Amino acid sequence: MTLRSVVIGCGRYLPDRIVPNSEFEKTLDTNDEWIRTRSGIERRHFAGDGEFTSDLAAKAANAALANAGLDADDVDAIIVATSTPDLTFPSVATMVQQKIGMTRGFGFDVQAVCAGFVFALTTANGLLLSGQAKRVMVIGAETFSRIMDWTDRATCVLFGDGAGALIFEAQTGTGKNSDRGILAADLNSDGRYKDMLYVDGGVSSTGTSGKLRMQGNALFRQAVEKLAATAETALENAGLTRDDVDWVVPHQANIRIIQGTARKLGVPMEQVIQTVQDHGNTSAASIPLAFCVGVEEGKIKPGDLCIAEAIGGGLAWGAVALRW
Ligand code: UT7
Repeated sequence: MTLRSVVIGCGRYLPDRIVPNSEFEKTLDTNDEWIRTRSGIERRHFAGDGEFTSDLAAKAANAALANAGLDADDVDAIIVATSTPDLTFPSVATMVQQKIGMTRGFGFDVQAVCAGFVFALTTANGLLLSGQAKRVMVIGAETFSRIMDWTDRATCVLFGDGAGALIFEAQTGTGKNSDRGILAADLNSDGRYKDMLYVDGGVSSTGTSGKLRMQGNALFRQAVEKLAATAETALENAGLTRDDVDWVVPHQANIRIIQGTARKLGVPMEQVIQTVQDHGNTSAASIPLAFCVGVEEGKIKPGDLCIAEAIGGGLAWGAVALRW
């Protein structure tokens, strides 16, 4: 008997406040045209005062539960991928438990920055395949607006806030790659690249939360190379090739990275889910948000082979091959 981690529901939440590129023209030497052409971003959502990562995550969680037709206590575990928790501790996952009324099971956070959702998916798969849990909710939730340096035009125009959630259930499969569910993954990190993307503060160093710092250009060059390679490896691990791919569901950092990776993979842009124009870079939330949008738009359907790939601070990067 082969167990598979199969998606049984998805949900998302974006804060009400939508900020168009033009908003930044008021305070920075930038313009809509630069942001659009260099990143593909047209607008992003920012959380309101008093609205925290756990609030966004809980709303996405409730939407996913409704989509799956489940109650909170039908889920055994919650994993939240985030780099912007409400507090240093407890975890956002336990706050979500409380907010959605989940009184059993367990929750914890995973931190792999923009690649966090890929790492969390792989962790959930491990829990499900080992019998530790029968149903796991994986949430990507971020409030990157809280770690922006609003005087740094090279970073603050790129990020947004949001949350997306997928619920997985352990189901019996055939063991073939025609099964629905998570089929394979590839995870990587390399701490030598730390200076390319980091936050300049933290509990143990400055005692502050710090601001995001990025060498955008250097990271851009790493991104396309590493994303295409990790996607190829995940497919290979599943015994699949690029020809089997129905949808690429990429981390949404920059449309040019998304295009470059798709080109390298040999997958046409018509088969790539794109949300960067509306969401900006929501870090660990961008892949689950993109899955939800893909489903809502009638693109991703049960049985479709999806490859999710992401790279971010660490550097940490990886991909998951998942049959929806
Ligand atoms: O989620 C984690 C992964 N994140 C990424 O992978 C992000 C990767 N990097 C990128 O997406 C791109 O590198 C950026 C969008 C950050 C920048 O695009 P770029 O084409 O690499 O631009 P650049 O950094 O080479 O900057 C080009 C010019 C510079 O001016 P000079 O030195 O040529 O005079 C920048 O100062 O654009 C300038 N610039 C801006 N101009 C107007 C930088 N930011 C802005 C801005 N508005 N907001």
